[in-house]
Amino acid sequence: MTRLAHISDVHFGREDSDLVDGLLLALAEAKPDAIVVSGDLTQRARKGQFRKARAFLAELPKVPTLIVPGNHDVSATNLIDRMARPLKRYRQYIANDLTPFLQVDGLAIAGISTVRRLERKDGRINRRQVALACGQLGETQENTVRVVVTHHPIDLPLQDRENATIARAKMAIKAFSDCHVDLFLSGHLHAGQAMVTSTREAGVPYAAVVAHAGTAVSTRTRIEPNGWNLIDLDGRQRMTVQQMRWSVEAGRFVHGPHAGFARGDRGWMAS
Ligand SMILES: [Fe+2]
Ligand SMILES: [Fe+2]
Repeated sequence: MTRLAHISDVHFGREDSDLVDGLLLALAEAKPDAIVVSGDLTQRARKGQFRKARAFLAELPKVPTLIVPGNHDVSATNLIDRMARPLKRYRQYIANDLTPFLQVDGLAIAGISTVRRLERKDGRINRRQVALACGQLGETQENTVRVVVTHHPIDLPLQDRENATIARAKMAIKAFSDCHVDLFLSGHLHAGQAMVTSTREAGVPYAAVVAHAGTAVSTRTRIEPNGWNLIDLDGRQRMTVQQMRWSVEAGRFVHGPHAGFARGDRGWMAS
């Protein structure tokens, strides 16, 4: 069994310190084998906010951690920086690598930056990024679970008419299906969810699990409490996505909705 903790949208600058403490405690108890942070580390990409985010990352359990930037990590006020070096501070304070790749315990994880300098909110993915990730993931062994991490969602439930998937999502889902990606992790919506790619894109040759994480510790909650995901993998055969939700009554993160998935010839399906 391999355990992956997936946190997102911590938005330092708008963080709740009780939740930060609660998250660090819950992560220490969960004992993940790896941690993914899917963007929006800060609220407005200010230096002080990046410093806080960096201090928080240093407190995480000492396991391999993969981080990608979110749209809030692009300089919002300095137009020159925004155009010339949109992720200058992110690279300086958090991670210089915008194409991180990590392998641990039967798991291979490729991170992709979907942030664009001209798009304030929505994200984009391109063929070059997809090809790079598929190349990295394709070199792993047959029983390795292949994971792609983006800030913006690659797929959404059919009934969601309010939010938009990332630009070039159809191209990405098709290409990632061809290279047998098993799991997409993203944030941005501040709402937790777990589904498979075949719910919207009928005829996907190899369906993947899609897990969105809520906002872990920020006060920018939308329709649901703060949350994050704990994902357990039983080889490349079975997977559970356990949403962790903040309970005001308990003063800690507790188990929220969970979903199970199993892998067949055409990829993953709900089980
Ligand atoms: Fe966010
Ligand atoms: Fe975002």
